[in-house]
Amino acid sequence: MREIRIHLISAPKKALEICGPADITTEQTEAIVNAANSHLIGGGGVDGAIHDAGGPSILAECRAYVSRHGNLPPGKAMLTSGGDLPAKFVIHTVGPVYRGGEHGEKELLASCYCESIRLADVHGISSLAFPAISTGAYGYPLHEAAAVAVKAVLDTLRAAKSVERVRFVLFDHGATKAYTRAAEKLLHERGRGDYAIDKVVAPESDA
Ligand code: APR
Repeated sequence: MREIRIHLISAPKKALEICGPADITTEQTEAIVNAANSHLIGGGGVDGAIHDAGGPSILAECRAYVSRHGNLPPGKAMLTSGGDLPAKFVIHTVGPVYRGGEHGEKELLASCYCESIRLADVHGISSLAFPAISTGAYGYPLHEAAAVAVKAVLDTLRAAKSVERVRFVLFDHGATKAYTRAAEKLLHERGRGDYAIDKVVAPESDA
């Protein structure tokens, strides 16, 4: 497994970690984030894996939410308990379906990360793990999604009161490399300024 850690120099307790290949359902963070659909009825991919591992109580909470508030629009987030998962909470967010990139996909994808971190903050959560939202069934090109995701998390984490540690937990080598490269590129462009990569655990060759 490959893992990098980026910390904010101005806020040393705050860190962004990128790790993979790994399964988010086994994460020990206080919350994990689900790439859900607007109906919150479960599905395939990471959504299916989270409901399978977490048990039926998560779906029951999702159904209660939809009957009270209606469908969850893309870019928004809601919270349930973690059921049987190691994580105490699941934050469900709905990524955009990629339709060529000219339909607000970038803003909606960034909003998934920002809204999830803000919701975690409201609930006093200190650590949360994200999958690569929208990059599976919803078709968002991996490298573009990675750049949006890393920037959105770093920008939101800076202002968070409770959230200190955000992990990208990526399912395969391709996603792990894409998110790592996006982070390295962003730090390079920003001249590192407020950020530093401070740890590389068991790095793999990029060859
Ligand atoms: N842990 C971490 N990441 C995972 C896992 C897992 N256990 N399983 C799948 N993934 C990864 C995929 O490899 C992909 O990179 O999650 C990423 C997102 O893929 P999807 O789960 O297909 O999510 P998304 O593209 O946002 O599509 C959402 O899929 O099943 C439905 O109900 C869901 O309709 C919604 C749609």
